[in-house]
Parts: sequence; structure tokens; C-alpha cells
Amino acid sequence: MDPGDMAGAIHGLPEQCEQAWRLARELTLPEGPRPRQAVVLGMGGSAIGAELVAGLLEATAPAPIAVHRGYGVPGYVGPETLVVASSYSGNTEETLSGYDEARRRGSRVVAVTTGGELARRAEADGVPLLRIPGGLQPRAAIGYSLVPQLRIFHLMGLTGDPQPAIEETVARLRRQRARLEPSVPSQANEAKQLALSLHQHLPLIYGSQGWKGVVAYRWKTQINENAKAQAQANRFPELNHNETVGWEVPAAINGLFHAVLLRDEADPAPIQRRFDVTAEIMRPHVAGISQAWAEGDSELARLFSLLYLGDHVSLYLAYLYRVDPSPVKAIDRLKSELA
Ligand code: PA5
Repeated sequence: MDPGDMAGAIHGLPEQCEQAWRLARELTLPEGPRPRQAVVLGMGGSAIGAELVAGLLEATAPAPIAVHRGYGVPGYVGPETLVVASSYSGNTEETLSGYDEARRRGSRVVAVTTGGELARRAEADGVPLLRIPGGLQPRAAIGYSLVPQLRIFHLMGLTGDPQPAIEETVARLRRQRARLEPSVPSQANEAKQLALSLHQHLPLIYGSQGWKGVVAYRWKTQINENAKAQAQANRFPELNHNETVGWEVPAAINGLFHAVLLRDEADPAPIQRRFDVTAEIMRPHVAGISQAWAEGDSELARLFSLLYLGDHVSLYLAYLYRVDPSPVKAIDRLKSELA
């Protein structure tokens, strides 16, 4: 696929998830005891899939799963730690430094990448390697960065077989695509309507605990990178302990923000109440408040329904701002100046 075709990449997410699962099912890992903890190393677009999985399994995994976005590895990493090095390009220096450190500490390492230096090192070191297809912007490869983590954590005894949830997710994404695609006019297209509301405003995306906060963050980063615009994200209940107070002296920022509340009927009553009361506190100070509801039976399907909506919103926002959603010139410049 052409990395410049962001619309095509977003459109193809159901097929990407399907293909990612086909590839991930081929992966086998050496037998061994269940790890004491798991750490995924990754940056930017290669970290978000793992963050989502960590949020998804937060309440059920029998061992903690952390995502390390930076150089090296956390201090507790040792021989009983599972370390997954995730880099789409395989050339991200922070992730490579963590890979080397995990190897030095004798951790059980797995690499997920399209190639690059990470694939070269994994092959040379005899480290299990899952090669994913190249040709996408890392953020558009969310299926390839998320689905393999489910397989790896299943093989390591940290979660059950994800296959039924993946099948439900793919089927639902196809149906959702038919409602969100460019040919569907604004009145009937939830993503276009949200993009129109957010246009010329600062998006404030609120999720809740676990994966829902990570999906809110994904909306923010997709708006940053695709629409080349600023956005903020936060999560309940934490935001009620700080950000909510920020409306007390609102005059200078009145009308600047448009809020999107990412909601899930499965959220417990105290969280639902927090969304409702917070909306009332904010309402006089913001341009508007929109709500988007998760759809699906499995948590994975609900996660992807909100994520997929956000990806489309960022795309339509890019069109409204008349920018090309694909290139990320500032990231490219930083990488080349730091090389
Ligand atoms: O979206 C992007 O292009 C970035 O956030 C990259 O994912 C990030 O710079 C890390 O690169 P890679 O995913 O190749 O490890």
C-alpha cells in the first residue's frame, strides 16, 4: 500500500485486522513459565496498540502489562519478564536500546516489526520475530500493532483465546465502515458530523478507565498527525480531580473547546454519572459537547468501534483543514536531525 494513502489505510482496517490475526496465529513461542510481568517497548504509532491491549487486559491479566515509551527498559525488567519490542520501521532508536537492554538482562524477548535493524538483530539473536507487512504509516498499522499483542499474551497465559472477539470485531468494522465512508453524506455520517463540530475548535476528548482512556488518547494523536491540529485528551475519573477545576476562570477560553465524550453502556454507574455531571459543569464554557457510544458485544469490538470512528473523524478534519493526512514532516525532521 502507498504510505501516502491514509484514507485507503483507514478504509482497510477490517482487512488489516484479519490479516494481522492470520500472521499472528503462525507465531509460536518457546515453552516456559508464565512471565512475572510483561513490558512492551514502542514509541508513537507502535506503542498505541500495546497501550490499548494493556488497558483491555488491565482487569483480568494475571500479571501486569506495561508499555515503555522511551530509551532502555524499566528497572524491574529481568529474566522472568516478557519483553515485546514493537517498532513498525524496526529502526526506532529508543526501542532498539530497550531491546538490547532486555537481551542483556536475560528477558524473554519477542520482536514485532516490518524489518529494519530490529528484524536484523532478532534474526541474529534467535529471538522470536513476527514480521508484519510494510508500506503504511505506523499509526495506520494499528491492527498490525494491536492484534499480535493479543496472540503473544495468549501464548504467555496472560489472556484467553482472542479469536472470537477478533472475528466479531472484523465483522462489525465492516458494517461501521459502510456508515462512515466518504460517499455517505454528512447528515448520515457520524464521523463527518463530529469533524464539522471540531473544526476551528480545540478538541477535548474524554474517555474513561482502561482502554477507553487510551482510545481518547488515540483520537488526540490521530487529530495531531492526520489533521495537523492540536487536541487534548483525558480520562475519567482522574480528570475530575484536576482538569474539571480549570473551568472556574473560563472567560479567556470560553468557546475555544469542543468536547467529545467517548461513552460505553458497559461503564459502571459512577462513571456514567461523572460524564453527565462533568458535561453540565463544562457546558457554559465550551462551544459544544458531542457523545460517541461504543458498539459491540466483546470489549475488543467496542474498543475498535470508538477507535475507528476517531480515525475517520481525524481524516475528515484533515480535509476540512485542507491538509494531506499522511506526511508527518515534523517527526521526519526530528528523526533525521537526531540520527
Ligand atoms: O506515527 C508515527 O509515524 C510515529 O509515531 C512512529 O510510530 C514513531 O516515530 C515510532 O516509529 P516506529 O513505529 O517505526 O517504531
